[in-house]
Amino acid sequence: MNDASKPALPAAGLRHLRSDIRSMHGYTPGEQVIDCIKLNTNECAWPPSARVRAALAGVDDDRLRKYPDPRARRLREVAASLYGVAPEQVLAGNGSDDCLTIIYRSVLGPGDRVACPWPTYGLYDDLAAIQGNPIEHVDWARDWQLPAVLPRLGAKLVLLANPNNPSGTVVPVDQLRRLADALDGILVVDEAYVDFCPGGSILPHLDAHPNLVVLRTFSKSYSLAGARLGLLFAAAPLVAEFMKVKDSYNVNVLTQAAGIAALEDQDHHRDLVRRTLAERARLEEQVARLGWTWPASGANFLLCEVGAKAGDIYRTLKARGLLVRWWDRPGLSSKLRITVGTPEQCDLLLKNLRELA
Ligand SMILES: Cc1ncc(COP(=O)(O)O)c(C=O)c1O
Repeated sequence: MNDASKPALPAAGLRHLRSDIRSMHGYTPGEQVIDCIKLNTNECAWPPSARVRAALAGVDDDRLRKYPDPRARRLREVAASLYGVAPEQVLAGNGSDDCLTIIYRSVLGPGDRVACPWPTYGLYDDLAAIQGNPIEHVDWARDWQLPAVLPRLGAKLVLLANPNNPSGTVVPVDQLRRLADALDGILVVDEAYVDFCPGGSILPHLDAHPNLVVLRTFSKSYSLAGARLGLLFAAAPLVAEFMKVKDSYNVNVLTQAAGIAALEDQDHHRDLVRRTLAERARLEEQVARLGWTWPASGANFLLCEVGAKAGDIYRTLKARGLLVRWWDRPGLSSKLRITVGTPEQCDLLLKNLRELA
């Protein structure tokens, strides 16, 4: 090998990595740009509870010096009492993304299949790719109805975001319960947005379904996306196994304190949800005037059908400091996903949209 054909030194170790990891693209998170109005990743538009900041200030040097509680006992107790389950049915994660990783690593052996309706949260795909397991998509974009075929695909793991991202659409709880009953595998119902959809949660039925795992996040309705906190709910024997798989200290001491304080301030939480729903209704009314349509949303965003100009509108908005989500992908490229912002943010967005639509 002459010098010119040798790989550059920093890249020489790449040949030792798994070839499927090298050839995968990797999950692309929504853009995180400072100094712009972010209506692209479904964060909450209003600040978290003031009690969260007080709880963070209350974490003293000694607690910072030591490792956090590996099992997040207090946080799980507070969550359990709020949601009417036992603490043994709860696991805390570094965001619900971490809970998803724990599930994939616990459930999937070589060759086991994953299935989900599509389009949905893109990370479900990337986790399967990292794990080396095949994933089957069932297209549901025509009507966003639960595909009847899901339990018959032979999948060991089925994922369903409810409300769904990016559509915001909601599958009724009784249909999800029938899916859990019919499935010979684990059903994950990812309820990241369910607080914006009153009555939409399957969590009250957890005890009736031994193969059901429910996920919640603090990133949306608790306004703590930066703190990274998610909760997993399942039957206690499942949670005990998941505990073996998670990283030892997967939720840091500050985040555990923040999560407890956020859960204990339900008045603030309800206020965040109320503001979001009020602003979602106003956004819907205004977007309808543009002649755009969207599937009924149970989440804090709307997936608007915009037409051929969607990409151009996204780029122009971005140049003006307004970020919404656009995917250059079949089935989604004519749509924009808009997160509900504050009234001021929405007004500015709408002013620009009236000009561009
Ligand atoms: C359906 C869904 N699940 C999970 C997540 C990630 O949640 P977390 O911030 O708790 O990792 C998102 C984030 O957008 C989401 O849309």
